[in-house]
Amino acid sequence: MAITPPAQRIWWKEPIEKVELIWVVIAFLWGMFMFFFMIAWHFIGQQNLNNEAYRITPSAYEEKVDAFAKKFTVREEKGVPVVRAPAGEDVYILGRLWQWWPILELEKGRSYRLHLSTVDWMHGFSLQPTNINISAYPGYEHIITLTPTETGQFGIICNEFCGIGHHTMTGKIYVVDQKTASVAEGDKR
Ligand code: CUA
Repeated sequence: MAITPPAQRIWWKEPIEKVELIWVVIAFLWGMFMFFFMIAWHFIGQQNLNNEAYRITPSAYEEKVDAFAKKFTVREEKGVPVVRAPAGEDVYILGRLWQWWPILELEKGRSYRLHLSTVDWMHGFSLQPTNINISAYPGYEHIITLTPTETGQFGIICNEFCGIGHHTMTGKIYVVDQKTASVAEGDKR
């Protein structure tokens, strides 16, 4: 028993206070408005990606990425291939414990179809320093149309916790000028 019991024993069975009711209704309506406004953010906020997604088995995706890397690798960095596909081509990135693979080299101002998937479980593709975040799942191949607007080196980190090596899961994308790329292509010939 409490030291000083309430004067009115059944204190909880009271009609709802009018002010409280008004705020409950306001909060509910605001919640409903924000829920349906998510559709509007797609158009006016550019918040949701207009991407494509297809079902694929993880092993089939891995084979596709391996073939892509084999075909277009131009050099290696610490054992990781740097892959430069011709401008406008489909480019592939694969997430797995614990890396984003391979490294891509893209040309500024050209559009690419970036394919993204994982072979084990869910990883977060986060492109730095730009604020692009995409969840990647095994079994689904996302295709994002990407046009780099700045040259430089971009880091990819994983932003979905994926186990003990999560913090080491990184990748890289280089964006080079079209001229640099064509000179390099000329060197190869
Ligand atoms: Cu992959 Cu965290």
